[in-house]
Amino acid sequence: MTETPRSVWLATTTMPTYEPAAGDLSADVVVIGGGLVGLTTALLLADDGADVIVVEARGVGGRTSGHTTGKVSSQHGAIYRRLADRHGRDTASRYGAANQSAITQVVGLVEALSIDCELTRASSYAYTTSSDQLDALRQEAELCAELGLPARFVTEVGIPGALGGVEFADQVHLHPAKYLAGLAAAVGERGARIFDRSRVTDVDTKNDTVTVTTDTGATITAGHAVMATLSPIGLTGGFFARVQPRGSTGIAVQLPHEAPAGLAITVDDPVRSTRPWLGGGPNGLIVVGDATPEALLDWVGSTWNTGTLTADHSWFAHDYSSPDLLPYVGSVPGSERVLVATGFNKWGLTQGTVAAEILSDQISGQQHPYADLYPASRIGGPAAIAELIKHNLKVGKDFTTKHVQRLAGADKPVCTHLGCPLDWNESQLTWDCTCHGSRFAADGAVLDGPATKPLQR
Ligand SMILES: Cc1cc2nc3c(=O)[nH]c(=O)nc-3n(C[C@H](O)[C@H](O)[C@H](O)COP(=O)(O)OP(=O)(O)OC[C@H]3O[C@@H](n4cnc5c(N)ncnc54)[C@H](O)[C@@H]3O)c2cc1C
Ligand code: FES
Repeated sequence: MTETPRSVWLATTTMPTYEPAAGDLSADVVVIGGGLVGLTTALLLADDGADVIVVEARGVGGRTSGHTTGKVSSQHGAIYRRLADRHGRDTASRYGAANQSAITQVVGLVEALSIDCELTRASSYAYTTSSDQLDALRQEAELCAELGLPARFVTEVGIPGALGGVEFADQVHLHPAKYLAGLAAAVGERGARIFDRSRVTDVDTKNDTVTVTTDTGATITAGHAVMATLSPIGLTGGFFARVQPRGSTGIAVQLPHEAPAGLAITVDDPVRSTRPWLGGGPNGLIVVGDATPEALLDWVGSTWNTGTLTADHSWFAHDYSSPDLLPYVGSVPGSERVLVATGFNKWGLTQGTVAAEILSDQISGQQHPYADLYPASRIGGPAAIAELIKHNLKVGKDFTTKHVQRLAGADKPVCTHLGCPLDWNESQLTWDCTCHGSRFAADGAVLDGPATKPLQR
């Protein structure tokens, strides 16, 4: 089978493997998806004494969580002014506190479970190379400090050409695949059952139970189902039309000199995110952006004046963003027993950790302090609705254009979610759906997205 390129993290970790799900099974909770959200939720629930089954379509940690930049930070670009303008200072403050608490949770889990995942404390910077942006970043730093975040404006960022930025002290970077492998081991040690290579194709709620069916023929009955699938599967809650897929490429590269020690992200266009790559030695650097690997290498070359470089690893993954900057976490509209967590806007290592706490508390009947911060049932204000309409009109236009191309003879298979014609991604060897983000391997197997069925060619 032709494989899509794997991240440097997955290429340097032996991920645990399990048996596929089979037969009739039952548990208190079935967690669908073995990424960061699924594994953290399963761990917290198992710690609370629940009987948990995790059912993963491919391999644990093998999708977006295994392809991240690995920053565990409450600095999500320069988001706090935008949050305060849109939702008020109180929400911006609670968002900051929730994501700071997620750093504490991740560090606590790494220590308590003795996970060897290169966890390192470092400052994080949101910076600019343009003098036009400096005032905005000064104001962002002031606001963040007022909101109680460990923030200050600095002119030394550690990236050539940076004129200034907002520094968040004491943030974290880690090796995400090693962290996920450690979580999976701890989930198993607590007696939870994990199945892989088992894609859930149907989730049905009746009376007091949820029944989940897999493509391996298993039926799992549980009191609750947590859809920790990056994007809720199928048509669940209409989330496919409420969140938008956003892709990014990552590269691991070695500079000819020492790499900067901090986490950094530009607020300029195009956005580039960097962090140290410990596996590459003192010169190792991870760079992520919405660009080809070649364009990221060009950016490295021009920023550090390095001459021609080659990437040791390159990969691609996507996450979903919501129209109002906040994730959706909680029960799906119409069913208390099916819960989702999506729309992390490429900051799911902290947001997904908070989500896992909220979901596990909700299932165990406890009140989480941030339970009302990301309600999955919200419609959103006028700006969010306008953005959704714009996005869905674009999806409709793409759908029509690509079907016209098919009628004209273009050889494009059709997505098994809602029928959008797919695009061949030559660098990743995948069929990608621009409508709601499903991706398929060259052999037609589902890799990501709301789709649950393989391609029929
Ligand atoms: C390039 C990139 C860089 C990023 N960098 C950062 C960063 O530095 N810091 C940060 O905080 N966030 C970052 N993010 C975002 C973060 O990685 C994600 O928000 C987070 O990993 C989402 O975790 P998840 O568990 O929801 O999804 P996933 O890790 O994708 O897990 C979902 C799992 O569900 C499985 N699944 C899907 N459908 C089914 C089904 N039908 N049946 C069974 N299983 C199914 C999948 O196979 C998958 O394993 C980045 C994202 C990208 C794309
Ligand atoms: S993901 Fe919805 S049509 Fe492809």
